[in-house]
Amino acid sequence: MRREGELAAAIRGRERHLVDTLSRWVAIPSISTDPERSPDVRRSAEFLRQAALDAGFTVAEVWETAGQPSVFAQRIEDPRLPTVLIYGHHDVQPVDPVAEWEKAPFEALERDGLLLGRGTADDKGHLVMHLEALRGFLDARGQLPINLKLIAEGEEEDGSEHFQQLLAGHRDRLQADVAVISDTAMPAVDVPALTVGLRGLAYWELRVETSATDLHSGVYGGAVLNPITVLVEILAQLHDGQGRVAVPGFYDDVRELTPAERKEIADVPFDADEFAADVGAILGGEVDFSAAERRTVRPTLELCGIWGGYQGEGSKTVIPARAAAKLSSRLVPDQLADRVTGRVEAHLRRLAPAGVRIEFETISTGRWVLTSPDHPAVGAAAQVVAEVWGQPTRFVREGGSIPPVAAISEELNVPCVLLGVGLPGDRIHAPNERVVLDQLFRGTQAVGRLWERYGEMGRSGLSAPPGRPAQEPRG
Ligand code: BES
Ligand code: MN
Ligand code: MN
Repeated sequence: MRREGELAAAIRGRERHLVDTLSRWVAIPSISTDPERSPDVRRSAEFLRQAALDAGFTVAEVWETAGQPSVFAQRIEDPRLPTVLIYGHHDVQPVDPVAEWEKAPFEALERDGLLLGRGTADDKGHLVMHLEALRGFLDARGQLPINLKLIAEGEEEDGSEHFQQLLAGHRDRLQADVAVISDTAMPAVDVPALTVGLRGLAYWELRVETSATDLHSGVYGGAVLNPITVLVEILAQLHDGQGRVAVPGFYDDVRELTPAERKEIADVPFDADEFAADVGAILGGEVDFSAAERRTVRPTLELCGIWGGYQGEGSKTVIPARAAAKLSSRLVPDQLADRVTGRVEAHLRRLAPAGVRIEFETISTGRWVLTSPDHPAVGAAAQVVAEVWGQPTRFVREGGSIPPVAAISEELNVPCVLLGVGLPGDRIHAPNERVVLDQLFRGTQAVGRLWERYGEMGRSGLSAPPGRPAQEPRG
């Protein structure tokens, strides 16, 4: 017990340093989707490389890709010990609309137990959580009971295009017994959870063209098709009156939920009205499913952007030549991005009036993931989370997507533990992104205990029971 107290105290002693490190890292605007920010993504990688060495990793390297750089770090204690690979991402989302931020997005603001700033929750905070857990562990014990590796991606927010290839090229150095992915959330501060499922994603752009050039709306208006009208008429037919996706065959591959799975979801405390009211949103969607189900285990088709025609001051009497939209689907087991893409494209083309030119392009795809709650590595994580939060750990499926998880599981053949401490109200990808510092602090405690536990279990204790797959990443 006394040893346990020392570890907890050493990790607690890192809390101010955690906030300080995270604040300095937030100041580096590592927006992977913006080519002008590439030098900042590189600076962010370099920052993490140095911070990893400071935390006690003995090797830390920036790994180049054809896109944005990743960071690899390791601390090998003894090859006979279990090896854990941590995954996170050091890139962040864009910050517009900037005017809606309380303070500049890259100037971290600490108030009321929160730290505001782009990347505080998604995902720099989680990576700093791991660094401070390591530093605290080493301060208390001098060494780890496991080998620790870390891979931090630089373009998760931009579709992870080069990540699987990076893994394949470094398979030997990334070898591990278990991967701990920290980039997810819990339902509430008093409802600790591990994520056991993520949705996949297919993201498209649809372009509609009805004339070779913009047209005077008096000379041509009333006599020709308007691309904006065509576009919105098509888009208006993507859902039926019951909130269901109206694309034929869209639900064909969706694995049906068992009554036990539906009950498990219903048993997690979740107030849908509060969930919506918290951000001023309006509930909607498939009438046959609860909001908790709709946002995690049901597939969606969402409109993410739309444009066309005159958007400037005053009026311009013009019929534009073209209009366009961005749309995406969140995918669930057993949907495949390519099959869904084919069905959506066929439906859109069927809806278009004769003569209208349609372009449909896939921007990116990512696979869904299901991990096994029965795996001993997941069980140990559930136990330490329950201890630290003082509540039983739930297993939840999340609505968001982390495409690199399927790549990690496939290329490295390791079980994945999705241990994240975000919360639904963190406003990730939105203005005033924040992290609840107490969640990060508890996370560092849980991570310290988890390394202890994995050390006790050893490599054999961490392997899956025979006949049970660690997870099924597909989609
Ligand atoms: N960390 C998120 C995913 C997430 C959010 C998981 C909330 C669980 C709870 C991740 O950084 C993310 O934003 N993923 C994108 C993927 C896309 C850019 C390919 C997403 O879900 O939109
Ligand atoms: Mn993330
Ligand atoms: Mn994100």
